[in-house]
Amino acid sequence: MVRSKIAGIGMYVPKNVLTNNDMLKYMDTSDAWIQERTGIKERRFADRTGETTTTMGVEAAKIAIKRAGTTAQEIDFIVFATLSPDYYFPGCGVLVQREMKMKEIGALDVRNQCSGFVYALSVADQFIKSGMYKNILVIGSEKHSFGLDLSTRGRNISVIFGDGAGAVVLQPTEKENQGILSTHLHSDGSNAEILAMYNPGTHANHWKKEKLADYNDAEIADMFMSKTMVEKEQNYPFMDGPAVFKMAAVKFPEVIMEALNKNGLTTADIDLLVPHQANLRISQFLQHTMKLEEGKVYNNIQKYGNTTAASIPIALCEAWEEGKVKEGNLICLAAFGSGFTWASALIRM
Ligand code: ACO
Repeated sequence: MVRSKIAGIGMYVPKNVLTNNDMLKYMDTSDAWIQERTGIKERRFADRTGETTTTMGVEAAKIAIKRAGTTAQEIDFIVFATLSPDYYFPGCGVLVQREMKMKEIGALDVRNQCSGFVYALSVADQFIKSGMYKNILVIGSEKHSFGLDLSTRGRNISVIFGDGAGAVVLQPTEKENQGILSTHLHSDGSNAEILAMYNPGTHANHWKKEKLADYNDAEIADMFMSKTMVEKEQNYPFMDGPAVFKMAAVKFPEVIMEALNKNGLTTADIDLLVPHQANLRISQFLQHTMKLEEGKVYNNIQKYGNTTAASIPIALCEAWEEGKVKEGNLICLAAFGSGFTWASALIRM
């Protein structure tokens, strides 16, 4: 039976470190508030001029490709997960194809925010299992620093997010008991607006109270994409934090149990749970409710903040570099985020 294995993994984070105290330059906050609510001590912000979501993804990809013992020219498909693409369109996948001088292979962008990497991995897994591709590059990368409201007004969100990228190369394996055992993907759009960035977008909801019918087409276009949008502060992420916390606390354990049940396994079989690094308090809650032993849940949000689609591959890469992910280990990836979407993957390394 053919399965997909993670043949190589890499990560890249910008050099520029911002501690919680550095955030005081921009807003009224405190190290104590941020650490107590989120566990975050510092985050990385990309170089404003040189680094983009794509360039960071490329750096992570180079390492993953090298560790997989292959070359960029041998990659036959790209899946790129991000919510902060270089351009509104085209997606980052094609930019990776160009930057890495790859063949004219397929490139797919996934827009599932915090669950983006697990969704991307699941898509790649299906292509490997079907025999269509043999070397798939999966990237999760974010440059949040570009789109955050760093004033006091945006502090409940801006202190949480950081920049970075992670990547894996998936290849087929026929080894007994190795590779991705299963992936599980879910969504519920009924609360789509409680963790979202509304613009640029083609929705009209936001302008309803301003009697959209009274505007002509040119004025409406200006509202969607330009100066008016910025003036109205509609181009920053919005989050109802407590509502997100409540839903995450239910869906994380649910999707992990779904993966274990599907494979006839229990929480005791997990060697390492690598959750999306949303908030250290969510990870601690997860460890407690799922009765996972100390050291079985990997956390590095303290150093990087929440890097959305990049958080799982960055955490998995660091865990692997620290010797916490070894051949034969059972690794569980789990994510929850905007959409809402949530997902898990169970992998025998
Ligand atoms: N520094 C200082 N004070 C702040 C800050 C800040 N950075 N941000 C908000 N506050 C203040 C608010 O103004 C408010 O003050 P008030 O009581 O005088 O009005 C007070 O702190 C509480 O504000 P809340 O927004 O209610 O803060 P809360 O206690 O809910 O904590 C947090 C916010 C950490 C986001 C929390 O809701 C949470 O953990 N939510 C889970 C969602 C999450 O972690 N999302 C991460 C991204 S989404 C994802 O990856 C799934």
